[in-house]
Amino acid sequence: MLLTLVYRSHISEHVQSDSLVEMVSQANVNNELLSITGILLFDGMHFFQLLEGPEEAVDALYSSICQDKRHHNVVVLMRDYVQSRRFGNVGMELFDLRHHHEDEVLQAVLDKGTSKYQLTYEDRALQFLCTFVQAREKENYLEILPADSWSFLADEPLKPEVEFIFPEMQDYSFAFQPIVDPLSREIISYEATIRGPEGGSAMEYYSRLSGITIYEADLKSKKLAFAMAQKIGISDKTISIKLLPMTLVMVPDAVGFLVNEITACGLVPEQIVVAITENGVITREDKFTTAMKQLKASGMRLAIDDFGAGSAGLLLLTQCQPDKIMIDRNMICDIHTSGPKQAVVQAIIRFCSALEISVIATGVEKPEEWMWLDAAGVCNFQGELFAEPRLKGAPVVTWPEVTYEYQSGQQAL
Ligand SMILES: Cc1cc2nc3c(=O)[nH]c(=O)nc-3n(C[C@H](O)[C@H](O)[C@H](O)COP(=O)(O)O)c2cc1C
Repeated sequence: MLLTLVYRSHISEHVQSDSLVEMVSQANVNNELLSITGILLFDGMHFFQLLEGPEEAVDALYSSICQDKRHHNVVVLMRDYVQSRRFGNVGMELFDLRHHHEDEVLQAVLDKGTSKYQLTYEDRALQFLCTFVQAREKENYLEILPADSWSFLADEPLKPEVEFIFPEMQDYSFAFQPIVDPLSREIISYEATIRGPEGGSAMEYYSRLSGITIYEADLKSKKLAFAMAQKIGISDKTISIKLLPMTLVMVPDAVGFLVNEITACGLVPEQIVVAITENGVITREDKFTTAMKQLKASGMRLAIDDFGAGSAGLLLLTQCQPDKIMIDRNMICDIHTSGPKQAVVQAIIRFCSALEISVIATGVEKPEEWMWLDAAGVCNFQGELFAEPRLKGAPVVTWPEVTYEYQSGQQAL
């Protein structure tokens, strides 16, 4: 199958732009051998490349291009299948935007077109090209440092496990994972997630239940989360609990139950964030709206969890006025290399800013993901990069510090 792959990247500091001519002539020969055709644009700082060819060959070439030290911050903008090649006769052609007017470049690219139908800018790949030539998206090119410019270090030892037993712990337990603001070294809150008694998935417990008992168990389990938070010494922090949205609909006076259990554990509703999962189907909207009102009126705050993974996200956002949204981990994974994910998350950040909703990125595992999100304006993070969830306890947090090698490298420049 024919694949079109479009990416942009940033030229590395040590590369002289004259050396590109040599690279392009080698690439030209190589691409012809691989039946790959392509267009490379360079504006003095960024590359933009459109590659077309057999899927496997394009993917293999792209992997090798990603490893090339002559550029970095490589971001895929488009990966899509086509019926026929746009630029059938070209192995590789470089257009240096510093030496030509934008109209000249656009015309030259159109003239290279070999598709049966005349190339038009209705074509998405060509629209990307046009946008690059006209430098219309430059403010969204977020440049990040190499991953090894940061190390992640704990500033305190792991606290010893506190011994406690509650009857519910025979059936289930809770793991606690912090949400942090890494640059101000602040723990924003701890999220309590239900687990099996030994730390496994809680599915075993839930799979024994059906119908309304699932929702009852979901609600009742929070009693243990609050009690454990108190025992492990985090009762002065914000505690976040996950709840199925239908629990608020199906269990009568669910909010009243939560408030009672919160106060019984010496906590206050204002320090509790209820995170409802976006992909839980909500029926009985009237009852859900009433429960939301009660929840807000009790002082508890509301978050939408797994935002971006389900189907109700945007509508739910307009209906229930959350205080926080937690972007789903699948959206965060490798965001520094994915144009589509970057565009979606930048839109989420923009509308959350307009609605004064704080954004939390979840499932952050790589320094590059954190750096890109930080550059995009996200301040609050959850993920293994900072702290893994800890069963029946609070984990240590590893905070980012600029590495000595990077600092001395910068001073030497
Ligand atoms: C911006 C940029 C675009 C490139 N485009 C191509 C290309 O289209 N075809 C190609 O063979 N190499 C291209 N290269 C060079 C490859 O990264 C790599 O050096 C080349 O494929 C040889 O790889 P090998 O040494 O693993 O055989 C490009 C490099 C850069 C920095």
